[in-house]
Amino acid sequence: MAEKKEKFTGSDTEGGITSSYEMNDGVVLKVPYSFFGSIYDDDERGMALAAMEQDTLTMGPQVAAFQKEFAAMCGVKHAFAVSNCTTAMHVATQVFDIKPGDEVIVTPNTFIATSLVVLNEGGVPVFADIDPRTFNIDHAEIAKKVTPKTKAIYVVHYGGQMCDMDPIMEIARKHNLYVMEDCAHTPGADYKGRKAGTIGDIGCFSFHSLKNMSTCGEGGMITTNREEFLDPIDKLRCMNVDAWKDQTDYWIPSHFDVVDVNGHWGNNYRMNEIQAAANELVIATEQELKQVTEGVDLAHVTGESIDQILDMVEQTTSSAKEIYVATKQQRSATEQVVRAMKEVATVAQQTAAGSKQVAGSAEMLAGIARDSSQIGEAFKLVE
Ligand SMILES: Cc1ncc(COP(=O)(O)O)c(C=O)c1O
Repeated sequence: MAEKKEKFTGSDTEGGITSSYEMNDGVVLKVPYSFFGSIYDDDERGMALAAMEQDTLTMGPQVAAFQKEFAAMCGVKHAFAVSNCTTAMHVATQVFDIKPGDEVIVTPNTFIATSLVVLNEGGVPVFADIDPRTFNIDHAEIAKKVTPKTKAIYVVHYGGQMCDMDPIMEIARKHNLYVMEDCAHTPGADYKGRKAGTIGDIGCFSFHSLKNMSTCGEGGMITTNREEFLDPIDKLRCMNVDAWKDQTDYWIPSHFDVVDVNGHWGNNYRMNEIQAAANELVIATEQELKQVTEGVDLAHVTGESIDQILDMVEQTTSSAKEIYVATKQQRSATEQVVRAMKEVATVAQQTAAGSKQVAGSAEMLAGIARDSSQIGEAFKLVE
């Protein structure tokens, strides 16, 4: 009988694929999930504890402050905290009134969540292929997929690098389509001076543990500049509740109606106060990360010249550097590069999550990654 391998978390827990990997399996280098200990320091623990002492433990002052701060960071008028990015995108799908048979053009290079929310409403995800240089949805492919049934375009700014949004918005305007930006990988990234989540009709963010910003493991945010979406988002996030506005006497039980939004029934997708409180400082460390990783330009390795790709991308966007991608066909030729990138990504991930001590190491690894002659040789092999 095979010896049972030790697992720290995962299949032995509720976590499943979201919180585990096997130990002692011979793989030396892994991007750690949490084996460097807690990502939170005393400041954040203090804020979480203070929130626990509040009378209101959900949708209170911490959530309100976080929403305000996040909206300011993105340069967007409105931000709504929710339980995760999937629920954020589900709300967006309902706000866009996606109904059975409606088509939504989606990138195939994403986590299942981006398509799942379309299926949830009976819609049909239609995949438009990606640009192999950036891994983002290709606007020329989107144009080919538009039909009379198309209602929306769902883009993902993959790995932190934003999609080429101008031509995408042009297609959307021409055909009267909604645009949802899945910003799970991109808090803080920008495209031609505009932040992720502010260009399409709605932006959706993830604060899951694996992301650049986290709110105690789970969390999400909806951003929008469209005033007509505020009321629908508010209702769909909280069980279609329409509170009586003229009720001022505090001793009378609160009254509300329950109303649908274009025939859609929402859910409980709220964020709690401890999550929101812990995040406020993580925003600061996320900004630190941007400085620390400035110059870690190994974000994408593809079959083309690294310089060409970075030139093309950097003219228009500034990446949130969430994922460092290496394509399979180069794996053997670029083992050194991939190894260095993994190390940078590992350290950057910790930094993003709030571990300030590793900031210096990230910078150092970035330097090694850029300067190493071995890596330079490997790049030549790729080219
Ligand atoms: C691109 C993308 N969108 C959405 C999600 C879902 O995020 P959440 O776990 O917050 O629902 C993920 C999660 O990995 C993702 O990578």
